[in-house]
Amino acid sequence: MTEADLYTLYKGVYVPTVVHTPESLKYFEEFKFRPDDVLIATYPKSGTTWMQEVVPLILSGGDPASVETLHNWDRVPWLEEKQALVLNLDERPSPRMLTTHFHYDMMPASFFKVKPKVIYVMRNPKDVFTSSFHYFSSTSFLVKPGPQSEFLHKFLDGKVIFGSWFDHVKSWLNAEDKQHIFYISYEEMTKDLKDSVTRIAGFLEKPLDAEVIESITNRCLFKNMKKNKMSNYSAVPSEFMDQTKSEFLRKGVAGDWKNQLTVAEAERFDAVYKEKMKDVEYTFVWD
Ligand code: A3P
Repeated sequence: MTEADLYTLYKGVYVPTVVHTPESLKYFEEFKFRPDDVLIATYPKSGTTWMQEVVPLILSGGDPASVETLHNWDRVPWLEEKQALVLNLDERPSPRMLTTHFHYDMMPASFFKVKPKVIYVMRNPKDVFTSSFHYFSSTSFLVKPGPQSEFLHKFLDGKVIFGSWFDHVKSWLNAEDKQHIFYISYEEMTKDLKDSVTRIAGFLEKPLDAEVIESITNRCLFKNMKKNKMSNYSAVPSEFMDQTKSEFLRKGVAGDWKNQLTVAEAERFDAVYKEKMKDVEYTFVWD
């Protein structure tokens, strides 16, 4: 199956048609944010699911009820996906927790007026590529990656779901008002999860005792999250996501691209990265 079969082109980026309907995209455009909403924004494969575990645990003061009883897509729903239409988000108590894979400039009008809290998670794009390569192979609603060199072409050209990694990251880094945005990388989280949880709790104005931070950190470790049926996508039927091909919580490390890319591919990646990111002043952990 090709892009034409599986994807919808929305504002210049591909989205998987199965969960992005005209109704859900309209819902997104008309969504009314509240100032205390917490929006997790990511390019896919950058640590979305991880943050969908961290944020509810912080806001509940460490109470695991929601991460044990609600699937991540109900707990911190994607605003642009059709699932959002059936969750009565208008009736959810504040602070609501929401997710988006869209670029900054695709946000609805209310976002720019209300300025909800945003946590933007970014990850080394070579690892995003690596994770995507495995993920795209295991799902029936995404175009199969094909040979790695071809998929690399598509990835670097932004001909994959949610468009170009470069455009996504640059759009959020160039946000007009950054006061309400907390930027964090997957790499910082793998390096020191406890410190990351502490800083995120600070941003969310939710001071927590040391032992609560400790227990949240412990729950969010890769090996523990992998066992959480509400977060490991085991509830998704195998005809959509075949985790015998690649598990959703696959490796959970930084730097796996070194096992994936050939030397020539890594060089090509670096050349494109250098060109596309030349005007970006932000210092990335992976640089
Ligand atoms: P890998 O495929 O490299 O293992 P997203 O949720 O944005 O789609 O990102 C998925 C990636 O985040 C996968 O990367 C997955 O294993 C990783 N991930 C999810 N939970 C994690 C955790 N608790 N610790 C480390 N990595 C995690």
